[in-house]
Amino acid sequence: MDFPLIGTAIELRPFTLDDVAAAHEVYSDPRVMRYVGHGPVGTVAGTESIIRQFMAHQQAHGFGFWAVVDRASGTLIGDAGLARAASGEIEMGYTLGTAWWGRGLATEAAGLCVAAARGPLRIPRLRALVEAPNGASQRVLTKLGFTLSGTAMAFGREHLVYRLELSEIR
Ligand SMILES: CC(C)(COP(=O)(O)OP(=O)(O)OC[C@H]1O[C@@H](n2cnc3c(N)ncnc32)[C@H](O)[C@@H]1OP(=O)(O)O)[C@@H](O)C(=O)NCCC(=O)NCCS
Repeated sequence: MDFPLIGTAIELRPFTLDDVAAAHEVYSDPRVMRYVGHGPVGTVAGTESIIRQFMAHQQAHGFGFWAVVDRASGTLIGDAGLARAASGEIEMGYTLGTAWWGRGLATEAAGLCVAAARGPLRIPRLRALVEAPNGASQRVLTKLGFTLSGTAMAFGREHLVYRLELSEIR
């Protein structure tokens, strides 16, 4: 699979350790991390550990969570990507810095992930987990065709489970 995945305003590419400082700006912000993982990341070392996990997943599976880069400025603005869950299902996720919210960029980034899953990666279905109060994230999912299909626990909290079948519309 070739990188970057090119959108209109953003592009996606695998993370490198050069991204740690910019990624920490995003992952240390409590507003950004309100519904993500275990919440804000307290140390740069913690962010480096996350980036190393993303890089290892990319190396092992040929896909992972990717850096979302603003094409106009080259700025890293967050992440979006795909990860293999313990169940074997492939999960999509995305996290952007607050300065970039409300411009359609998460929808664009998630759309590039769905296209990669459907196209080169040949992934038959995607799952996404989102907390009930996270209306913006649910809207991103429904705009891309995901539908609500139950609930699941993650990080000790109840999440809505959204799914998208790709094999039917390939
Ligand atoms: C969720 C997030 C990724 C959305 O990013 P974004 O770039 O602002 O999203 P988009 O602009 O592409 O789309 C957001 C949509 O949600 C809508 N929206 C915004 N706030 C909303 C709310 N509180 N309730 C319902 N819909 C909302 C927007 O109007 C837009 O829909 P529209 O295009 O029909 O107008 C971003 O807020 C974020 O990074 N949050 C922190 C991390 C996070 O929660 N990640 C998801 C974990 S499941």
